[in-house]
Amino acid sequence: MTDTPAPSYSGPRRILSGIQASGALHLGNYLGALKRFTQLQDAGAPCFLFVADLHAITVWQEPEKLAAQTREIAAAYLASGLDPARSVIFPQSAVRAHSELAWIFNCVARLGWLDRMTQFKEKSGKHKERSSVGLYTYPVLQAADILVYKATEVPTGEDQKQHLELTRDIAAKFNNDFGAPGFFPLPEPLTQGPAPRVMSLRDGAAKMSKSDPSDQSRINLTDDADTIAAKVRKARTDPDALPETWDELEGRAEAKNLVTIYAALSDQSRDQVLAEFAGQGFGAFKPRLAELAVASMAPVTAEMRRLMADRAEIDRVLRDGAERASAVADPVVDEVKGIVGFWR
Ligand code: TRP
Repeated sequence: MTDTPAPSYSGPRRILSGIQASGALHLGNYLGALKRFTQLQDAGAPCFLFVADLHAITVWQEPEKLAAQTREIAAAYLASGLDPARSVIFPQSAVRAHSELAWIFNCVARLGWLDRMTQFKEKSGKHKERSSVGLYTYPVLQAADILVYKATEVPTGEDQKQHLELTRDIAAKFNNDFGAPGFFPLPEPLTQGPAPRVMSLRDGAAKMSKSDPSDQSRINLTDDADTIAAKVRKARTDPDALPETWDELEGRAEAKNLVTIYAALSDQSRDQVLAEFAGQGFGAFKPRLAELAVASMAPVTAEMRRLMADRAEIDRVLRDGAERASAVADPVVDEVKGIVGFWR
C-alpha cells in the first residue's frame, strides 16, 4: 500500500435516470423529471433513460398491466421530446446486467446503511415485516442501475438524494474493498435547476399525485387541450390579487402552486411571473395560465396518445434501447465478475 490518494474516475460523462413503471403520469412528472431530461439531452453526454419495472414490483403490480405501464412511461419519454436515436430508452428488466450487479452490491452494502433509508420507512409504514425484501434493497438495485453504466450524473428529485449518497458509498466501498481504485465513478445528483414541486389543483398542501381520487386534481399526460384548459380554470384559488414578490404569497398554497406551474412552463423565475401579474387577480391570471398550459402541454399529450395507440413503434424503441444499453452494461458486469474473483 502507498500513501497516494485513490485516483479519481477518469471515464466519460454519462447521464442516467429512471422512472418507475407505475403508470398514470401527470404534469408533476413532466415538470419534475421529463422536461429536464430533454434539456439534458443537449448537455454533451449520452443519456440513459429507463423504465424501472424491476423497482415497480417491489410492491404488487398486476401482471397483465405491467407491460402496458412500461410502454406508457416509454411513450412519455418520447412525447416529451427525447430522441431515441440520441438517448438510450429501455426497460430495466430487459437488461440483465442490472439484476446481476444488484446481487453483488447486496453483498457490498451494509444493513446499517439501508436501515437509514427514509423512503423505505415511508413506503413500508407500520408493517415493515410484511414488506417485500425487494422494497428494502430497492436502493441497492438503484445503485446498480446507475453504476452498471458507470454513470457520472443522475438527474433526480430531492427525495432521491439519499439513494444517490448510498450509491456513492457502494461505489467507494467496492473500489476500496476490491483494490480497484477509480473503477466506479462517484455519481453526482443533478437536483439543481427548476425541479418544482407541483401540487394538487384542488389542494395546495398535497402533492399532485396519480393516486388522488379526484381527476380534477391533476393534469394527466393524456389529457386533451379542452380538459387541460378546464382543469386550470377550475383550479382552487383565493380571492386576493397577486403580490409583487414570492414571500408575500406566504400562506396562499394554491396561489403559490399556480405561479410555480406558470413559471416552470414558461421557463421563467417565479418573481418574473409575479412582476408581470402583480395586482391582478385569478380572474385574469387563470385564463393566461390555461392558455400557456394548453400551448405547452397539448402537443405533448397529443403525441402521448398517438404513441400509446402505436405499440409497435414503442416496442421498436424499447428493443433497440435494451440492445444498446446491454452493449454498455454487459462488459462492465464482466469486469466486475473478474474483480470479485468469479470463475469466468
Ligand atoms: N427511485 C427512483 C424514483 O423513485 C427511480 C429510479 C430507479 C432511479 N432507479 C434509478 C432514478 C436510477 C435515478 C437513477 O424516482
